[in-house]
Amino acid sequence: MADQIRVLIVDDIPETRDHLTKLLGFESDIEVVGSAASGSEALTMAASMLPDVVLMDINMPDMDGIAATEKLSSEVPTAAVVMMSVQGEADYLRRSMLAGAREFLVKPFSSDELTASIRQVYTRERDKQSRMSAMPVMSANTGGPVPASDEGGHDGQIVAIFSPKGGVGRTTVAVNLAVAAATELGKSVVLMDGSFQFGDVGVLLNLNPKNKSIADLVPELEAGELESIDTFVINHSAGIRVLLAPPSPEMAELITPSGVKKVLEALRRTHDLVVVDCTSWFNETTLAILDAADVVLTMLSLEITSIKNMRLFLEVADQLGYEPNKIKLVLNRADSSLGIRVADVESSIGRKVDHTIVSDGRSVVYALNRGVPFFLSNREAQVSQDILRLAQAVAGERVASAREDTRKTVQKKSLFSFR
Ligand SMILES: Nc1ncnc2c1ncn2[C@@H]1O[C@H](COP(=O)(O)OP(=O)(O)OP(=O)(O)O)[C@@H](O)[C@H]1O
Ligand SMILES: [Mg+2]
Repeated sequence: MADQIRVLIVDDIPETRDHLTKLLGFESDIEVVGSAASGSEALTMAASMLPDVVLMDINMPDMDGIAATEKLSSEVPTAAVVMMSVQGEADYLRRSMLAGAREFLVKPFSSDELTASIRQVYTRERDKQSRMSAMPVMSANTGGPVPASDEGGHDGQIVAIFSPKGGVGRTTVAVNLAVAAATELGKSVVLMDGSFQFGDVGVLLNLNPKNKSIADLVPELEAGELESIDTFVINHSAGIRVLLAPPSPEMAELITPSGVKKVLEALRRTHDLVVVDCTSWFNETTLAILDAADVVLTMLSLEITSIKNMRLFLEVADQLGYEPNKIKLVLNRADSSLGIRVADVESSIGRKVDHTIVSDGRSVVYALNRGVPFFLSNREAQVSQDILRLAQAVAGERVASAREDTRKTVQKKSLFSFR
């Protein structure tokens, strides 16, 4: 029999503890090893019971869930915390993640959401542990973690384009990176618009169908089968495939974190590269994308607000247990003379910028307004060359490390530094 997931429940309300214990009692792979009524009791119990997962209420009288999670992260680091809260605001989510929580459930949640979160967190932690114990196997020069190859199928790479501040060029880079990888590197590429409320990918690619988006997959996601995903992925003349965001913002909430994960897994099985244009704020669907990604290209610009948010994001990424290698920093409009130098940025955030892209308002905005990627319309421009280098580094990295292809290794050395 498979290992059971050992769960500790922490909530000051006795009825909630009983209810959760009963709910989880139905799951054969989950065992409730104890329940605590306060943060301090939770710490004592966790130290002796060593649970895999701690279900932690956020509002408790003596020590709140955030403080308890912080202590737990250092005292019992093997216990992964799933935070439960009636407040779903971004600030709570951010503070919980900074304290070390792995998941965030907004009450009331269904028993399916609860058990899915517990299993997901447990699997992720277990994979992390085994990756860490197999560290020497991981090639030191890979661009991201060695992907978990699943049941022998196609095992494409998921590249998330994220930034902790809006308007820094995520969509621009996502679209052109996808086109570059398809047209120059011969990859089969699908671009997913992960900005489910106000996605712009359709605008940049001049696509506007009403009945082809991720929203059309919701019934299948709810039924647990993803059979017609191909029907809703659009073949674009630029040589890429595109899964658009829902046509109207209110439909965004239909897309759940577990749904997103299923979609990404399905796309990675049929493509070499899955590029995802993410939102610039942390919500559960964005976290699901970042979790699933092999590489997170995190974009910033030479602005003080962008740099500040990047610092915060890097802290959160660390708390989430992302390996430093998974995050690559991409500085957009790197040559704009705005009083901040790249070296200032690096010293402020405490790590090197991995890639830079020049500023080229003429090519970029002209292309945007025509709905044609600049990588196609202005292939010779420096900004296109920077995008190609980024695509080579991201997509070529796995090939290079897997096949020890010397040609690619030489090419890689001339790229921006990888750490
Ligand atoms: N390298 C560049 N040179 C010049 N202009 C650029 C460059 N990259 C992006 N831009 C411009 O910056 C603006 C924002 O870009 P984009 O929409 O790609 O950013 P975003 O991060 O996706 O924004 P949002 O938060 O709205 O999703 C656009 O007008 C785009 O044309
Ligand atoms: Mg955008």
